[in-house]
Amino acid sequence: MESILFVASEGLPFIKSGGLADVIGSLPKELVRKGYDARVIMPLYLKIVNNNKDQLEKVCSYDVHSGNLHSVATIYSCTANEVVYYFVEHQGYFERGGLYGYDDDGERFAFFTKAVLELLHHINYFPDIIHSHDWHTGMLPLMCKDHYRDDERYQRIKHVFTIHNLAFQGNFGADMLSSCLGIDMRYYFDGTLRFHNGISFMKAGILYADKITTVSDTYAHEILTKDFGECMESVLASRSWDLSGIVNGIDIDLWNPKTDPLLTKNYDVKSFVKNKAANKKALQEAMGLRVADDVLLIGMVSRLTWQKGVYLLIEKMYELMGQDVQLVILGTGETNVENEFKQIEYRFPRRAVYYCGYNEELAHKIYAGVDAFLMPSLFEPCGLSQLISMRYGTLPIVRETGGLKDTVIPYNQYTKEGTGFTFANFSSDDMMNMIKYAIYVYYMQKEDWKKLVQNAMKADVSWEASCRKYIDLYESM
Ligand code: ADP
Ligand code: GLC
Repeated sequence: MESILFVASEGLPFIKSGGLADVIGSLPKELVRKGYDARVIMPLYLKIVNNNKDQLEKVCSYDVHSGNLHSVATIYSCTANEVVYYFVEHQGYFERGGLYGYDDDGERFAFFTKAVLELLHHINYFPDIIHSHDWHTGMLPLMCKDHYRDDERYQRIKHVFTIHNLAFQGNFGADMLSSCLGIDMRYYFDGTLRFHNGISFMKAGILYADKITTVSDTYAHEILTKDFGECMESVLASRSWDLSGIVNGIDIDLWNPKTDPLLTKNYDVKSFVKNKAANKKALQEAMGLRVADDVLLIGMVSRLTWQKGVYLLIEKMYELMGQDVQLVILGTGETNVENEFKQIEYRFPRRAVYYCGYNEELAHKIYAGVDAFLMPSLFEPCGLSQLISMRYGTLPIVRETGGLKDTVIPYNQYTKEGTGFTFANFSSDDMMNMIKYAIYVYYMQKEDWKKLVQNAMKADVSWEASCRKYIDLYESM
């Protein structure tokens, strides 16, 4: 086994809306470092065209037929971090303001999937493994096995499908099978792909990939239960033998407080006391908070949706701000959540701020400048923010679910172990109690806080171990 093609709907360093992009920007890079031929393919979105015009080279152009879809795909390519990236160009489908959330998303990603498969014979590149990610690419293993059933070169390929978030399933009307996917309607009528009276890209990925992974061990178990299974638990149970959890790492070159050019002062585990404080001061100044080194500054960088537990925070906002803390939130999402957060600057001037938007530079400054990072998620397949926080010596306060449970070691006041603070129940009272405990440790157990920061900064959040696990999985196939 030497070649792996990653197929995904987004990926750094080109485009990002969430953690999937971080993974696509870092795992292939690690595989290349370890001597594998890992490449990535994604749609050519408008933003990628605008930002990378000069780097992109045209590879080829060909017809794509899938069901009743007849169109043309043009492939562009470039190399970044020694990884070859391919982009599927189709102006009508992909050159839009956003990435997803359009009425024709099913058609767009059906086209994308077929275009990816067709590319292989056009450039005579048949990877050993195709590693597809999330619902957007869920139909790929089935289409590969079905559309090319007489072609040895396609049938030799093994498929890994990774679930980054089971809540997004790509469910569409059944007619999509014949209209866009070129798959026999019998897959709907006999129940195979049927889901909520339509069809599901996610279900297809789970059923037809050779191996299924998700992004933490705990989430791999959680999704087999009714509480987290999103009605897919019995489908997953039928494949439980081939399902495993591999926790994400982060790109430790990109996220490195010692070299990060966006920080006011760089620091490492030896110099954080003085230099992290400089970042806190700069952040407080930039955001209009009262400049004070000795107040606990709590941060949040997140998509603002129910998944992230933002309603717990809204419920406890007054109680939280009744404590001696400052709060900085960066994120976009549900309008009512944004509106709630927009109020906080008026209610708590110079003590709480909300930046509504997506801003990578500010994200770096927040991870470095705050003392604690709040992530009270309802569910969290892995979560990258808590990993980044730890690397920046910022202590995560998280709910024990999915990857948060697997990556944050709770503070133990007796042994001084731990890399953050954790609470078990999805309850605003439990969250608040844990925040109060963190406040107590910050003000009253200063040496312990420092020790926790050191522990967090020393934790291995790189891809090293997890990349090995993926390699073992690929090799086993
Ligand atoms: P998810 O993928 O569910 O959104 P993760 O924790 O896995 O959650 O990854 C989120 C990633 O997106 C992190 O790298 C985080 O820093 C980044 N991010 C989220 N919201 C914003 C924002 N408003 N501005 C900049 N970066 C953001
Ligand atoms: C999803 C999950 C998040 C995970 C990310 C990358 O967006 O919500 O928990 O870290 O994918 O795998």
